[in-house]
Amino acid sequence: MPSILIIGAERGLGLGLAETLNAMGWAVTGTARAGADTTALQSVARVAHVDVTQADQVKVLRSEIGDSFDVIFLVAGIFGPLHNSVTEATDAEFSEIMLTNCFGPIRLAHRLLDRLSPNGTLAVMSSHRASITLNTEPGLKLDLYRASKAALNILARTIHADHPELTVLSIHPGWAATAMGTLDGTVDAEISVEESVKGMAQVLTNHAGTRQNLYLDWQGNVLPWSPGRPLVRIGLWSQYKHSPTV
Ligand SMILES: NC(=O)c1ccc[n+]([C@@H]2O[C@H](COP(=O)([O-])OP(=O)(O)OC[C@H]3O[C@@H](n4cnc5c(N)ncnc54)[C@H](OP(=O)(O)O)[C@@H]3O)[C@@H](O)[C@H]2O)c1
Repeated sequence: MPSILIIGAERGLGLGLAETLNAMGWAVTGTARAGADTTALQSVARVAHVDVTQADQVKVLRSEIGDSFDVIFLVAGIFGPLHNSVTEATDAEFSEIMLTNCFGPIRLAHRLLDRLSPNGTLAVMSSHRASITLNTEPGLKLDLYRASKAALNILARTIHADHPELTVLSIHPGWAATAMGTLDGTVDAEISVEESVKGMAQVLTNHAGTRQNLYLDWQGNVLPWSPGRPLVRIGLWSQYKHSPTV
């Protein structure tokens, strides 16, 4: 029976994943922030607690969870301010989204690597909005969100570079009907939570333990990180790879 730790699991896609994977026979541990209503989560998972922005909560989390997981999935995230614009954002707004969507989850991932099984899988909840290649539509006010998820992707990829024995997946869940996906019920999403989590469960089943670093959507499609041909293929990589700095 595979085991998973889901960070941010008491509502939305995290809860959906906990319910679906539990129904598939996985042993599920899910986290909530202290004080959150965990009634639904408790019926499908062991419950632990963490706010990803609070480094001092990691010790307690470590004491609440098991010793070894096949998969750790960092799901928690925020959309940020509705304007989402880099020209309107305050320092506090930019800091909050980068801390919640990138630095907090990646710091937590590092502190939990020893709780992954030897060939375990680290998954982060990314977005297709993190793709540099796909960032070509004019007029979309998604600056802060895009930046936070692109930063999440690159730091997740660094974990794979340092730990090639692990599988590291950046997963886009689709535009799913959660509080975030519907902007608190003001817009229609493209897919239901059930469709999204069923797809992501299949992605985990297909790719866990393969030791790859992949950027995938909920249907298993490979997303492009960035435009252009990889430098390694056009013979320029050698002039960069030995530089210890920028
Ligand atoms: N829905 C979509 O269409 C969509 C598309 C692309 C990517 N995503 C990503 O999918 C993930 C889940 O989003 P969702 O759609 O399920 O949104 P959601 O319904 O708004 O749920 C967000 C989850 O993140 C948790 N969270 C937020 N800040 C946290 C913090 N500081 N520490 C710990 N937990 C925190 C929330 O906990 P609280 O209840 O305590 O706030 C909640 O469990 C996010 O990373 C989001 O960026 C969603």
